[in-house]
Amino acid sequence: MDTPQSHWANLPSIGLSMRVLFTSYLLAVGVGLLLAGAQIMLTHGMADGKFGLSIDDIVYSYYGNEKSSRLETALNGTMKGKAPDDVRNDIIGWARDGAPKDRWDTHFETVFSNHCTACHGKLPGIPDFNDYKQVKLVAGTDHGSSIDSLTRVSHIHVFGIGFIFFFVGLIFSLAVDIPKWLKETAIALPFVFLIIDVMSWWLTKWHPGFAWLTIIGGLGYSAASMFMWVTSIYQMWFMKKKPGRVYLNEWQYD
Ligand code: HEC
Repeated sequence: MDTPQSHWANLPSIGLSMRVLFTSYLLAVGVGLLLAGAQIMLTHGMADGKFGLSIDDIVYSYYGNEKSSRLETALNGTMKGKAPDDVRNDIIGWARDGAPKDRWDTHFETVFSNHCTACHGKLPGIPDFNDYKQVKLVAGTDHGSSIDSLTRVSHIHVFGIGFIFFFVGLIFSLAVDIPKWLKETAIALPFVFLIIDVMSWWLTKWHPGFAWLTIIGGLGYSAASMFMWVTSIYQMWFMKKKPGRVYLNEWQYD
């Protein structure tokens, strides 16, 4: 029945159960995004050995580093804490000499088993350092991400993040008093930046000059989703009640 009372479809007027559902979802997504940020800082952010995300981090992660090996990059970055400095320098020196087999047999097999094989040999998905061949492989020139891992991470990222943006946008679509152009832009932008972000990884893999696109993509969708997040929470819980607004249907065609 189309009585005025049935028009409640806007954030300040929705019922308590929807409000609780939307808010719980937004809080969980907020925590998830903060954790994702922390994870980026600790992995990519450390790729150049310094804390904080820089263009170099992105270049090393995707394009690689012609002057270094994955072994060296890791030992100066994410694996820095796994061995004392003299051991790390010892390994790096050996890698720069081309990681010869005779010194593996006499010395480095023991070094790796003392410091590395507790994980590299037990954890799935990372190289097994009981095996000289796998050490030799990461001791070669650092070519950044493999096409394999880029493909895997790209599709997980697009599906996963796309799903999150869909619901954040759906909730925000019920917001009131936002100029139409701004509302539609805020809803569309995260998806645009998501595609830019993922494309930038592939472009950076091909040429390091594209690394800045990754930063633009990440900043862009963070800003757009933050705007929708804050506006939605504010309108559900803190916006002054206005008489007559309850009849507003933000999902109605006009
Ligand atoms: C506490 C567990 C742990 C220890 C100990 C450890 N690693 Fe790792 N390592 C990991 C994990 C997990 C990853 C994958 C995630 C990452 O890159 O941070 C990894 C990744 C790497 C990579 C990148 C592999 C690739 O495919 O690009 C290298 C190289 C590496 N480690 C070297 C070492 C060396 C050398 C040591 C010993 C000095 C060591 N690690 C000790 C857990 C460990």
